[in-house]
Amino acid sequence: MDKEKLISKFDHQSKIYEMRRKKQSEKKWREKLIGSAKGKVLEVAVGAGANFYFYPKNVDVTAVDFSGAMLSKAKESATASNVRATFIQSDIESISFPENAFDTIVSTFSFCGYEHPVRLLESFNRWCKPDGQILLMEHGLSSNRLIGSTQKIIKPVFLRVVGCHLDRNMINIFQHSPIHIHHMERYKFNTVHLVWASPNKGLLRVNTKNALR
Ligand SMILES: C[S@@+](CC[C@H](N)C(=O)[O-])C[C@H]1O[C@@H](n2cnc3c(N)ncnc32)[C@H](O)[C@@H]1O
Repeated sequence: MDKEKLISKFDHQSKIYEMRRKKQSEKKWREKLIGSAKGKVLEVAVGAGANFYFYPKNVDVTAVDFSGAMLSKAKESATASNVRATFIQSDIESISFPENAFDTIVSTFSFCGYEHPVRLLESFNRWCKPDGQILLMEHGLSSNRLIGSTQKIIKPVFLRVVGCHLDRNMINIFQHSPIHIHHMERYKFNTVHLVWASPNKGLLRVNTKNALR
């Protein structure tokens, strides 16, 4: 889908995401995952800032989203939660950060929207410090056959209306990326994945060396 169209779809959804933030939807999962963040944090596709309530003290967040309307809601949330944050309006799939720039990289419910999800995980692998962590909460294809086939059937409508690929196989995406998963929890018929991962710099070095031969 054309990026401008997608941005305008998300601009229009910003009020809904603000309401969900205020209701603290997914509080239990966010608390658990975001509570592990530390140091210099990159939060991609920050939306209306639903995670800001849950960051520990002393983190320093760089928050990226391509929707200006979402970012203005996220700024309010950071202020209300007393989180030190800077905001960048950009497409996360085309931005670049220096290698090893962040202690923690956070993404919640954003991988359903990207054009190249594995490539973005490769970027996380580069941007994250070797001893850093990658924290993900992503929804995707259920392992339950009935729910999975329903997701496949209704995906085109979801994509058109909210810009979401409802049937992304997240396990497949993780396996094709270089990140190293330490712990994963799955909920709601395995449609929601909570992931604690680290970058795998060794693998990248080997790949680069082979590519140069
Ligand atoms: C489903 S919302 C999730 C928001 C938030 N992370 C949360 O947990 O509530 C997806 C967000 O990703 C943003 N987004 C999607 N694709 C993006 C891209 N390529 N670059 C930057 N932001 C993107 C949208 O603007 C939206 O704010």
